[in-house]
Amino acid sequence: MKKILVTGGTGYIGSHTVVELQQAGYEVVIVDDLSNSSTDVLDGITRITGERPIFEKLDCVDLEALKGVFEKHQFDGIIHFAASKAVGESVQKPLLYYRNNLVSLINLLELMPTHGVKGIVFSSSCTVYGEPNVNPIDESAPIKPAESPYGNTKQINEEIIQDFVHSGAPIKSIILRYFNPIGAHPSAEIGELPIGVPQNLVPYITQTAIGIREQLSVFGDDYNTPDGSCIRDFINVVDLAKAHVVAIDRMLTDKSDEAIEIFNLGTGVGLSVLELIKVFEKVSGKPLNYKIVGRREGDIEQIWAQPDKANKVLGWKAEATVEETMASAWKWQQRLKEKGIM
Ligand code: NAD
Ligand code: WQD
Repeated sequence: MKKILVTGGTGYIGSHTVVELQQAGYEVVIVDDLSNSSTDVLDGITRITGERPIFEKLDCVDLEALKGVFEKHQFDGIIHFAASKAVGESVQKPLLYYRNNLVSLINLLELMPTHGVKGIVFSSSCTVYGEPNVNPIDESAPIKPAESPYGNTKQINEEIIQDFVHSGAPIKSIILRYFNPIGAHPSAEIGELPIGVPQNLVPYITQTAIGIREQLSVFGDDYNTPDGSCIRDFINVVDLAKAHVVAIDRMLTDKSDEAIEIFNLGTGVGLSVLELIKVFEKVSGKPLNYKIVGRREGDIEQIWAQPDKANKVLGWKAEATVEETMASAWKWQQRLKEKGIM
């Protein structure tokens, strides 16, 4: 059985990926410092797959601790999710973001060759494209100056991987640029668990519908889009998770001659904020209390993916409908209420 190290594996996207990896026959070791997740997630994963992943609580910034994990387990590959990800917080605490997001990756890369680990899949983001000149956007589009320290860490991380591979390091890497991951596992055993007031749209919608928040503010209806609200490519988190399994398979079986490959992970369809709210109202059967307010600083007007490369080369395609995805987000929010978590 091939063994995969999943950093940030108790987090939102990581936990869904652990489920898909286990279901595809991989053994998983999770490393997470629980800075933005809890061990309850391990119970959720176990209820879905019947198998409890090995869990090591540690901070990837701690090279010695990480080395201990590499000495204990022989990994075939790594999926690196662990990072701090709040855009606004990164503006307030840039050094925290640079230290966490850069040093974690550097430590992993440093340990890979000496421990015979062949490949690393890296979580990047469509944020590297900034405001696109054209949509849909493909992988050859220019990288724009980052709008935040968080966004900058993703750009620098991509460069660190490129430079290390080009230096002749005996590793391969697949860089995945996610668009907007939303929704939850259809079982509602795992999902997104934002700490405090959600910054992202979908948890704000579901928390408003369930009564935790009074009203959703829609940030702007005066953009140059058909209904005036921003447009995004909302991708189902389970679909996204499945792409990681395909990427790991591809790297570990040397299906590509390229040492580094980059893929957009999106649906290829742009949906506006107001359209997404309508979908939520339809699947939940509840009208949503929202109001239009001013624009949020730093927001991109419209961006959606050209996912052809991932479709053709990886043989992966987003499958869930946005209705199914929003229904899964709503089911998850209701489950949190039933359990008294939120
Ligand atoms: P998340 O916060 O739910 O998961 C990240 C996990 O990493 C958390 O469990 C956290 O405790 C852990 N972690 C953070 N720093 C760590 C460290 N130094 N050592 C060990 N564990 C650490 O976030 P997510 O939404 O699942 O995002 C996963 C990855 O995908 C991140 O790299 C993020 O930047 C990237 N990404 C996310 C989105 C999104 O919208 N959610 C979009 C594009 C890219
Ligand atoms: C989506 C749309 C908001 C909240 C962020 C990061 C990006 C990536 C994904 C990691 C926007 C609008 C939101 C609300 C609203 N993360 N909105 N009211 O901004 O596309 O991307 O997460 O890499 O880097 O920047 O996602 O969910 O915050 O916003 O009207 O209360 O919803 O203005 O148009 P975003 P989001």
